[in-house]
Amino acid sequence: MKFVFLGPPGAGKGTQADYISEDLSIEHISTGELLRQEISLGTALGEKARSFVESGELVPDDIVIEIIKEHFSEDAGRSFILDGFPRNRAQAVSLEEHGIDVNKVFFFDVSEKVVIERLGGRLYCPVCKKFYHKDYRPPVREGVCDSCGGDLMRRADDEPASIENRLKVYMEKTHPLIRFYEDKGVLEHIDGDRPAGEIRRELNARITG
Ligand code: AP5
Repeated sequence: MKFVFLGPPGAGKGTQADYISEDLSIEHISTGELLRQEISLGTALGEKARSFVESGELVPDDIVIEIIKEHFSEDAGRSFILDGFPRNRAQAVSLEEHGIDVNKVFFFDVSEKVVIERLGGRLYCPVCKKFYHKDYRPPVREGVCDSCGGDLMRRADDEPASIENRLKVYMEKTHPLIRFYEDKGVLEHIDGDRPAGEIRRELNARITG
């Protein structure tokens, strides 16, 4: 089971990758999360990536491809969900070049209006990395993570100017991958504008059915 979750920012890729990873015991690999980790640890790689991530630009391919290569260095044959990678043609080709084949690419289709509403209300636990939404997935205690008690915050790139740029970058660089994977016969559409539980059930059925 080797899947890519593709779609605009805020489409629900991370939320569903967490669910499916738990349901089917598959590894969830999020390049955004790996980059945020490097940034919060203040590593050299994190410092190189920080300004790109905060402004909503793509981090240069050599950095991101290196992260993915390292991740797969021990076992390129294992099951995974790639969330947020590949994000352009060069990254997609690099997967193939490293012998990492993808069985299915789920494209999460949502409108720009939904993206803005979701990212505008998203909350994030910097300790255990869990995501919430003030209306759609509120924590039990306001501002406090249900899982670890950490203080919830907003992601630096969820400010309006950065969201606008991320959507622009997505349309220019990532959206063309729909055609790339359609041509390979592995693309599946998911209507992402539905309650998260409904999408989770559909993904489980399509993967295992
Ligand atoms: P990354 O972390 O990958 O961000 P993204 O792709 O912009 O995606 P998001 O995490 O914003 O959205 P999501 O689709 O996961 O939605 P979520 O489930 O959280 O990347 C961040 C940055 O890192 C990039 O901008 C770039 O700079 C860099 N980067 C990463 N990968 C890179 C790469 N390969 N190359 C170069 N640079 C790279 O949901 C959003 C909100 O909606 C949440 O609050 C959630 O609770 C809520 N929600 C989810 N589903 C539903 C639903 N069905 N109904 C209602 N609410 C929902």
